[in-house]
Amino acid sequence: MSEYVTLTHQGREFRLPLVTGTEGEKAIDISRLRQDTGLITLDPGFANTGSCRSAITFVDGEKGILRYRGIPVEQLAEHSTFKETAYLLINGALPSQKELTRFSVMLNDHSLVHEDMKIFYQSFPRSSHPMGILSAMVNALRSFYPELQNLEEEINITVTRLLSKVRTMAAMSYKISRGHTVVYPRSDLTYCANFLNMMFDSPVKPYELDPDVVKALNVFLILHADHEQNCSTAAVRVVGSARVNLYAAISAGIAALWGPLHGGANQAVIEMLSDIQRRGDLPAMVARAKDRKDPYRLMGFGHRVYKTYDPRARIMKQMAHLLLEKLKLSDPLLDIARELEEIALQDDYFVEHHLYPNVDFYSGIVLRAIGIPTNMFTVLFAIGRLPGWIAQWKESMDDPAWKLCRPRQVYSGPGEHDYVPIEER
Ligand code: CMC
Repeated sequence: MSEYVTLTHQGREFRLPLVTGTEGEKAIDISRLRQDTGLITLDPGFANTGSCRSAITFVDGEKGILRYRGIPVEQLAEHSTFKETAYLLINGALPSQKELTRFSVMLNDHSLVHEDMKIFYQSFPRSSHPMGILSAMVNALRSFYPELQNLEEEINITVTRLLSKVRTMAAMSYKISRGHTVVYPRSDLTYCANFLNMMFDSPVKPYELDPDVVKALNVFLILHADHEQNCSTAAVRVVGSARVNLYAAISAGIAALWGPLHGGANQAVIEMLSDIQRRGDLPAMVARAKDRKDPYRLMGFGHRVYKTYDPRARIMKQMAHLLLEKLKLSDPLLDIARELEEIALQDDYFVEHHLYPNVDFYSGIVLRAIGIPTNMFTVLFAIGRLPGWIAQWKESMDDPAWKLCRPRQVYSGPGEHDYVPIEER
């Protein structure tokens, strides 16, 4: 039976339909609100607004649940690979062996980047942030690999091309920024092993692949693979809604992810922990984070949706410990992070505000152990989020209810007044 909520305005009653999701969450459908009532809604930051129906990822922020296509992220982190999870997100179900092999072959076939693109990398100033470069380069892919038509097979090629090339481009940018020879992808290596090899192999010091490091990178990427309508995914959907090419929409997602309140937080956490280590005064930094007059925040803490421990942070924390142990490394920043978490979780301010570590809090420790430089952390987040962005873009393109994204506003500027010629101002 259909459910409704009733809105009363100026003595008139309007019935607004209630929509129920598969996990029982409810939303008021306001798609006819302005047409029927003349009213719009006001929701800064869209904290109460569902922008679409989606069958890709389920998050319950109160219970700390995250599932991709119904499968708990904990199970995927334990048993799956990033390649398989990417397939799951984009195609809706886990692949059969045959489908996975075909996907691997396609990823391999499309892994090279046009040689002319190397020149672009060399033209960026050395101090450029890799996220700015990646966003520009993904947009530039459109000129080298024109988007194919709407046929299923051709879209698959564009999608695979992006997944494979973004990984090659990220490693390439690192090598070029260091003035080293670019290492090309190898057909005998898996997705993550290939990336590590392209990052760290050198003619004078061959890179030895460690299965624990390869596993850690797989888990890192799986944990970042999708997170429903977050800031960068919303950017991909909004930009994509203008029916721009996929490369441009993904480039917009990368730009949004760069921000320190979003994916850029993984770099910001390590900078914050290093700063605490230098100053040696952890309580003072916690006090600053609690001071409403001070814009300082604990990076890697808090989340728009999670009001409990982020399930990804739990896995990441465990992995940071295991990896350091296996590699026989010690990282003083892990000790500071643990101490900071302990203080914050017992502090009234953090408890009352439901502020817990998020995915970015421990991820930098994992990436440091792997050898990834700090300014590349958010690039790794972007490689991980790519299948999510693609899946969400694909879903939006196929959605019969999809419209150009164009929010309204409540105007608060000056009322009408006449133009004043410059000599009279
Ligand atoms: N440290 C101190 N106070 C905080 C923090 C924090 N990290 N995060 C939120 N608060 C406080 C905030 O000051 C406000 O307090 P009050 O109500 O007393 O004024 C209250 O909590 C609500 O904050 P908000 O900014 O309205 O909440 P939001 O849902 O808009 O913010 C957030 C979410 C992620 C932007 C925020 O928690 C934050 O800035 N965290 C630090 C950056 C970070 O770690 N970002 C990564 C997010 S997870 C990865 C991803 O998906 O991008």
